Amino acid sequence: MTNPIVSVRGIQRTFGSGTTAVHALRDISFDIEPGTMVALVGRSGSGKTTLLNVIGGLDRADGGTVVVDGDDITALDEDGLSQLRRDKVSYVFQTFGLIPVLSAAENVGAPLRLARTPAAEREKRSPTSRPASSTRRPAAR
Ligand SMILES: Nc1ncnc2c1ncn2[C@@H]1O[C@H](COP(=O)(O)OP(=O)(O)O)[C@@H](O)[C@H]1O
Ligand SMILES: [Mg+2]
Repeated sequence: MTNPIVSVRGIQRTFGSGTTAVHALRDISFDIEPGTMVALVGRSGSGKTTLLNVIGGLDRADGGTVVVDGDDITALDEDGLSQLRRDKVSYVFQTFGLIPVLSAAENVGAPLRLARTPAAEREKRSPTSRPASSTRRPAAR
């Protein structure tokens, strides 16, 4: 049996406190197997975004564990979470979070730059139809 790519156990996330506290996630547990496609469905306010933020290392759960590709991400410090976001988790947001001064292909390749991937390899994985050595955009017209 293969190990789950994502394994969530008993996670909790509460916003605020006292009588106005919102329990966005209450004791959530599930596994996602590698190579599978999963849809998270629920009405507005049911906690979908909160859950995705916790799995992707953008937010921290108040309790429980989240294992992504074998690493317990609830134990990671800020640097560790940055690495997780750089190397293992991607989001396509409802509104595009593109870097406006870069072309579409350069936006796709931006994480490879952060990971210090060599130019030739970057060009192979995210072709910009420019020589790998040329990274400057043409002047705006
Ligand atoms: N940063 C926040 N501060 C306070 N409450 C929040 C915050 N983020 C989400 N919530 C609340 O948590 C609940 C779940 O929200 P969310 O995860 O955005 O749901 P969904 O994505 O399913 O619409 C909602 O009641 C929302 O108002
Ligand atoms: Mg949402």
